[in-house]
Amino acid sequence: MTLLHINSSILGEQSASRPLTAAIVKHLTDANPATEVVHYDLAAEPLGHLSTAEFLALQGVEPQDDATKRDVARNAKALDDFLAANVVVIGAPMYNFTLPSQLKAWLDRLAVAGRTFRYTESGPEGLAGGKRVIVASSRGGLYSEGTPQAALDHQETYLRGIFSLFGITDITFVRAEGLALSPDSRTAAVQAALSEIQQLAA
Ligand SMILES: Cc1cc2nc3c(=O)[nH]c(=O)nc-3n(C[C@H](O)[C@H](O)[C@H](O)COP(=O)(O)O)c2cc1C
Repeated sequence: MTLLHINSSILGEQSASRPLTAAIVKHLTDANPATEVVHYDLAAEPLGHLSTAEFLALQGVEPQDDATKRDVARNAKALDDFLAANVVVIGAPMYNFTLPSQLKAWLDRLAVAGRTFRYTESGPEGLAGGKRVIVASSRGGLYSEGTPQAALDHQETYLRGIFSLFGITDITFVRAEGLALSPDSRTAAVQAALSEIQQLAA
């Protein structure tokens, strides 16, 4: 089994999502010790905005300079690593009601027509199904269904949408929310998420 581990929090040691993704990876690898783990820290090594030259390279336009050639090769590796993974574990904090831009930049490298999805006459069709995606979702406020701010969740809804485009239906959210409400609220939310992780099928 190959497991792709993605962190995107900019909060380092203070991050809530990083210990959660670490706990998910540990839970899965303890049960399957032969798992190969590939890790991306998108805050420590950001991909940057998808540039014109990088996008054109996907259309077959050869990059001209060495820096763009390196970026294009790195993008190809990011996509290959995603396609090769059986399980993808993603730390996805909510920043300003949506994903960290670092995580969006990674998704921009995956949403490649002909690789993860294709256009058909009846609409887009996913090409990267068969994976399991587990998202550690962390957020300061409350956005679960039924809460007053639920309509402002452009984080989990976005991830559901893009992985559905790729044909991925097996997606689990381990959610720690209300982290900014009080220290007790943060402790309780993180503890609940850690307990939930122990219940995940390994
Ligand atoms: C730049 C930034 C923007 C944030 N925006 C929101 C927000 O829109 N809604 C919210 O509930 N929490 C927001 N938060 C709080 C984070 O969701 C919370 O700190 C969470 O723990 C982030 O996950 P992390 O600790 O793994 O980075 C924001 C935090 C940061 C640093």
